[in-house]
Formats: sequence, C-alpha cells, structure tokens
Amino acid sequence: MASNVIINTDIQKGKINKNIYGHFAEHLGRCIYEGIWVGEDSPIPNTKGIRNDVLAALKNIKIPLLRWPGGCFADEYHWKDGIGPKEKRKRMVNTHWGGVVENNHFGTHEFMLLCELLECEPYICGNVGSGTVQEMSEWVEYMTFEGESPMANWRRENGRDEPWKLKYFGVGNENWGCGGNMRPEYYADLYRRYQTYVRNYGNNKVYKIAGGANVDDYYWTEVLMKNAHWLMDGLSLHYYTVPGDTWSDKGSAVDFAEDEWFITMKKALRMDDLVTKHSTIMDKYDPQKRVGMIIDEWGTWFNVEPGTNPGFLYQQNTIRDALVAGLHFNIFHHHCDRVQMTNIAQTVNVLQAMILTEGEKMILTPTYHVFDMYKVHQEAEFLEVNSSLDTYEYNGEKLPQVSVSASKNAEGKIHISLCNIDHQNEAGLDLDLRGVNVVDTKVSGTIITAETMNAHNTFEKPNVVKPTKFTGVTVENNKLAIKLPAMSVVTLVIE
Ligand code: AHR
Repeated sequence: MASNVIINTDIQKGKINKNIYGHFAEHLGRCIYEGIWVGEDSPIPNTKGIRNDVLAALKNIKIPLLRWPGGCFADEYHWKDGIGPKEKRKRMVNTHWGGVVENNHFGTHEFMLLCELLECEPYICGNVGSGTVQEMSEWVEYMTFEGESPMANWRRENGRDEPWKLKYFGVGNENWGCGGNMRPEYYADLYRRYQTYVRNYGNNKVYKIAGGANVDDYYWTEVLMKNAHWLMDGLSLHYYTVPGDTWSDKGSAVDFAEDEWFITMKKALRMDDLVTKHSTIMDKYDPQKRVGMIIDEWGTWFNVEPGTNPGFLYQQNTIRDALVAGLHFNIFHHHCDRVQMTNIAQTVNVLQAMILTEGEKMILTPTYHVFDMYKVHQEAEFLEVNSSLDTYEYNGEKLPQVSVSASKNAEGKIHISLCNIDHQNEAGLDLDLRGVNVVDTKVSGTIITAETMNAHNTFEKPNVVKPTKFTGVTVENNKLAIKLPAMSVVTLVIE
C-alpha cells in the first residue's frame, strides 16, 4: 500500500503568513527570567541583559513575531510596574505562576529591545481582567506616540526618544477563564469599550486582537463575531494537545506508552476540526475573511518534569513533539486563508519549548528543529493538495498515516512537508507534482526522526534528535516515490 498525493503546483491557494510561525513568551517559570533575560551583570554572555545564545537560536528559525507578557500573567500585569530604573521597580508576587517574586526587571523597554534584536514584530497582550481602560490606553500611548504627551514624555525620560512600532495588540487573554471568568456577552461589551481607546498614533496602525474561544466554545466565537467583528482585526483561539484525560494527570512528556503516542496524534489533529468549525462561524459575519484567526496559544501540555515547580510548566520535548509541531503547521497552511497568526506556547523552558536552558547551557528541542525545517514556508504560496492516505491504526481506531502540505516561494522553489505519525510503520507515498517535470528538477530533503518514541535531547546529549539529510525519495514515472520512516517529519525542496 502507498498513500497517493497530488500537488497542483499551478493552483495557489493563498499566502502562508509568516506569523503562523509566531511565538509566545510569558512571565512564567523560567521562560523570561533565566530563559531569555539574565541581566547585564550575568556571566552568561548577553546583549543588554538578553542571552546571546537564545537570541542566535531564535534568529536562525526566523522568528517573525513574539507575544508577551502572557497568558494569564497579562491580565494581572500592570505595565507601569515594569518601567524606569530597575532598582526602583516593584517587587511583587507572580500569583498565577508558582508564587515566586517578580522583580519587574523585564518590562516594556526590555521586551521591545528583545524584538529589535530578533528583528521580529512585538505582539503585546493588554490587561482587561484587572486593568483599567485608562491603563491600557496609556500603554499604547507610551509605546507609540511621537509628539508631546504625558506618556510619550515619560518614555523619553526612561531613555527612549523614538516611539516604537507596535502593530499587534491583544485586548485581554482567556477572558472566559484566568482573564476574568467572563461570559462572552460581557467580554464582547468590554472588548468594544477597551479597544476604542487603543489609539492609532501617527502612522502606527494597531491590529486589534479580541480574546477568543477556549477549544470548542463555538458560542464564544458566535457572540464575539456578532457583537464586535467590525471592531477587530483578529480573533484568538486557544487549544493545547493534552494526552491525559484530566488536568491533574496530563501524561508524562518522556515516560509514555504507545497508546499515549496515538492519543497525542489524534488530539493534535483535532486542531483541524476546531479551525474549520470556528472559521465557519467567522465566515457568517465576515465572508471576506478580513478578520484573522489568531491561534495565539497552542502546543503540547504534559505533566511537569518530576521534581520541578508545578507552577513553572517545565517539560521535556521528544520526537512526539516534533510530530505535533509538523501536524499543526500542515493544518495551519491548509487554513491560511483565515489563520493569520499562531503562537506556540512557549519559547523557552515552558510547555512545548523551542529551547531549554540550565544555567549557561542551552539545548534545542525536536520542536525547534521542525520550526527550522518549516521556515521555508513563511510567506510562500500554499499549493493545492489532494490525497488518498493510508491509515494508521491502533486498538481499532484509525487516523490518516501521513500529513502533507506544500508551498511555492518567490524564487519558484517548491517545498513539501510530510509527517508520518505512525509510531511503528514506514509510510510509502506516490507523489504526483502536477505542473512540474520532476525529472528535470533537483530534489533534496531534510528529515527528523528517531528510533524510540521518547527520544529527546538533554544537556548531556544535546544532539540525539536533530535533522539529517533525507535519502528516501526517488523519481519514478515522473512522480516522486517517497519512503517515510515511522515517526518522521520531512521537508523536501524541489528546484
Ligand atoms: O501557556 C500557559 C497558559 O495557558 C497561559 O498563561 C494561559 O493563557 C493558558 O491557559
């Protein structure tokens, strides 16, 4: 048996927004502090307090955009606590995440510096849950107003003359939960009110993102779209891949059995259904698809590593996470007409992280490598894919064995990304690249795979799971014959 895939290289279905490859960094555990910010006086090499190794790693994957300061932290964050001389900044408790001291050393100026160094767009999430309209309005004024005003003057006093460019602004986070436990009707009204005072100063045009639904809360999307769609540019959606049945036992990141592999793949694939159904509701009010779907939190969520602070959400990252990342990107590509941004949770040391750190040491996770392999799709044209796929069967349940997406970039290069989610069996694939004479092209590829389901990188062995050259593709009858090993993610280049 083999899966059959047809890619129509002449049928372009829309641009893959590079912001689909966005990230999220919260004041949570060791993400910001230690993971990104070490302070100017740290022995760890840094640029004005920001770790150089992490900067270089994130630049390499062409991080397009970074969401901050939360998450749940955002609706407890008061931005004025995080500006001015560091020694005078408020020391407080991070009540939501581990009850640890937050010294506010990483604030607006430090975040904007981070984005400048990464050459990525900032995406700031404002506080609706416990903040005022005035506070939110003044934050935007502080950051983006060029002229003479109390907030702009204050910014100058704090060492920054020029306003920053700030495009993406979220009006609250998870306002159905940690962001205020609101009903959608109430939040929709608050959204209308708060966003009114998120001003466009000078030529800074803010892309306003309304707090969206939790998983399959379609009623939330309905109410928000009905009552406020014309006042928003984006509407968010949060969905995490959690293999366990309860939040108290989400399953281990490393120590898991075959059934947990299968269930993880099944739950990751659920993203497609969620995006489809939320999009259908959005289409009702916005058939032109002007409002972007912003999936600003996604990724795996397992039990924390044994012995670590339960409030820090520190988890390891295996080849299973690599597959979850690949599946998500393929799904997002297929919905690139509506999905304009996504942010994996979270960048360093938290949940499905790209990077793990321990003191001065840093390792790259299998998820990082998938971001690296997929970066070629950023801003490329998504190509139509039709497929008839073999199944991956476990305990009588079936899933499509392979996931595929393809794009053509500005230079005409075609990139095809493939995931074989089967934990035991190789996947055979006949791939017909319509519109291209494959015998006249050069085909090459990169693969990430492993021998065991829980293969991962550690500080002692940092390169156990990493991309290598892919040799499982040949040209037969002007088609590509592909053999994907079990548990693998592959990106092919056709040039
Ligand atoms: O990413 C961790 C948390 O998950 C975020 O703070 C919150 O928005 C979500 O519930």
